[in-house]
Amino acid sequence: MKVTLSVIKADIGGWVGHSDSYPKVLEKAEEAMFHARKNNVIIDYHVTKCGDDAQLIMTHKHGEGSEIIHKLAWNTFLECTEVAKRYKLHGAGQDLLSDAFSGNIKGMGPGVAEMEIDEREAESVLIFMADKTSSGAWNMPLYKIFADPFNTIGLVIAGNLHNGFTFEVHDVKDHKKVTFNCPEDIYDLLVLIGAPSRYCIKSVYHRDTGEIAATSSTQKLSLMAGRYVGKDDPVCIVRAQGNFPAVGEVLEPFAHPFFVEGWMRGSHMGPLMPVSVADATPSRFDGPPRVICLGFQIANGELVGPKDMLEDISFENARGEANLMADIMRQHGPFEPHRLPLDEMEYTTLPQVMDKLKDRFEVLED
Ligand code: 13P
Ligand code: 13P
Ligand code: MG
Ligand code: MG
Repeated sequence: MKVTLSVIKADIGGWVGHSDSYPKVLEKAEEAMFHARKNNVIIDYHVTKCGDDAQLIMTHKHGEGSEIIHKLAWNTFLECTEVAKRYKLHGAGQDLLSDAFSGNIKGMGPGVAEMEIDEREAESVLIFMADKTSSGAWNMPLYKIFADPFNTIGLVIAGNLHNGFTFEVHDVKDHKKVTFNCPEDIYDLLVLIGAPSRYCIKSVYHRDTGEIAATSSTQKLSLMAGRYVGKDDPVCIVRAQGNFPAVGEVLEPFAHPFFVEGWMRGSHMGPLMPVSVADATPSRFDGPPRVICLGFQIANGELVGPKDMLEDISFENARGEANLMADIMRQHGPFEPHRLPLDEMEYTTLPQVMDKLKDRFEVLED
């Protein structure tokens, strides 16, 4: 049976500041999703949050990029924004960049990851969601999951993974895409995806069968809006087991935190801390950045779950490591590499400062 899994997310107001989502806003989303399921627009849904980002996880029969589903998500976010405004939440409607829906939610602010799948006998999917970071944050984990045998032993010892995976990479600035066949293309792939602010892994496919293995949201809020409104706080869907890496192989990259951009005012690097949904409440210096993961089995479109995958005690060390890394970064205050380089900063006073200083600059003699 063919079914589409759509994950559509938006920051529609923070409680308090940018640290969490207000329960009444999520209740409104739940209400809208409940009606959509009752009216057979969607098969099933789960509403959750990662920090100040509301997440709509939906299964349906309308395929990827469906106007029906995108409009449902858009209208749900609009209704949630009304609630956010009522309680004067911070940045109510922050990620909704337009007043009118134009057929597809892409380019309008929300982040979108969708895959149409032929449901397997056992369909295990893992949905990753992050706060205080940007699209491209999934590059390192997706590389490790689908191309690194030190992470995924299945690439070495499982016959159905041994031929590797194909990576589709997007150049988000020039609006181009390129594909790499791994393992033979890994060095070329790494040249690009090691620069996640420009090159993002959009999707991964099984090389023998062509099946979709993973897909992520690559929307860049600042490029869409032409100014800073908030961070992308991306999502990513990964299929597990069978022809794909095991659940534990998919989670393994998060056992050690890595640095991502997006902390405080979208302008700082910080460690991506793996946490439970309940602990995705970035508060210290508006962070550090968080990642959560919900697991589901999909049965005829029904979302059997969620299972909070990063709540597990085995990620305790990673959380401790992330706190240490956060301490080290914070000691740099306004200095790089904590603060982003000037041309990557979401906020900058540089033009005003340079204008003020223009008469004080003197030419060096030699
Ligand atoms: P089970 O024997 O518990 O199904 O585990 C199989 C496996 O390969 C897990 O990685
Ligand atoms: P969000 O993108 O999660 O709203 O965070 C914005 C910010 O600037 C936090 O300091
Ligand atoms: Mg926010
Ligand atoms: Mg956010």
